[in-house]
Amino acid sequence: MNRRVFLASLFLLHTTSYCMEGKSDLTLADFTPLISKEEIQSAIIRTADDISQDYKGKSLTLVMIMKGAIHVTSDLMRHLKVPSTLEYVQTSSYGQNGTEPGKLTLFGLERLDIKGKDVLLIDDILDTGETLSQVTHELFKQNPASLKTLVLLKKSKGDPLNLKRYADYPIFTIGNAFVIGYGLDYKEQFRELPDIWVKKLNN
Ligand code: IMP
Ligand code: MG
Repeated sequence: MNRRVFLASLFLLHTTSYCMEGKSDLTLADFTPLISKEEIQSAIIRTADDISQDYKGKSLTLVMIMKGAIHVTSDLMRHLKVPSTLEYVQTSSYGQNGTEPGKLTLFGLERLDIKGKDVLLIDDILDTGETLSQVTHELFKQNPASLKTLVLLKKSKGDPLNLKRYADYPIFTIGNAFVIGYGLDYKEQFRELPDIWVKKLNN
């Protein structure tokens, strides 16, 4: 975990307002860089090494949660030193205003092939933990040999005892702020950015 990223994120904890009512759509000018593409790439390589060690002699089935996990999954997969196959499900949890969670919908469970496999479920970001816990609950019903979870970002909410907010491999921990880039969107925009940007405070 990069110390500068962690401190910058903590600064934002409890200070960023999610209330966008009455405001027009956000543009890139409403965001500031948080994690560079170089920091992302080296952290992914380190994590891929850890995972390759943990699964030595096995092969992995990666289950990517579309769409936000697209870049982290693709980069991670290329750095794993164990064989892997790729499956995906799609969820969407963010409502109309784009920065506040709405009702979770989940598609694609019926065509997964994970029975008896060692599965790594990958998401872009862990916030309330609702998405990961609901998807893992559904995947367990299909009897994988094992199931672990990876997230690119985990929002730090000062609640270490909340079991719902757990991931086996959290690559970065950030503050409780809204972020975009490297797969993460605001109303389907900005997924293409190679770096991660955070929403500026109340601008
Ligand atoms: P959770 O269910 O509250 O843990 O939220 C996880 C899902 O919400 C992720 O898969 C993201 O798609 C979305 N999400 C949460 N926080 C952010 C954010 O800061 N920016 C963009 N999407 C987010
Ligand atoms: Mg999203």
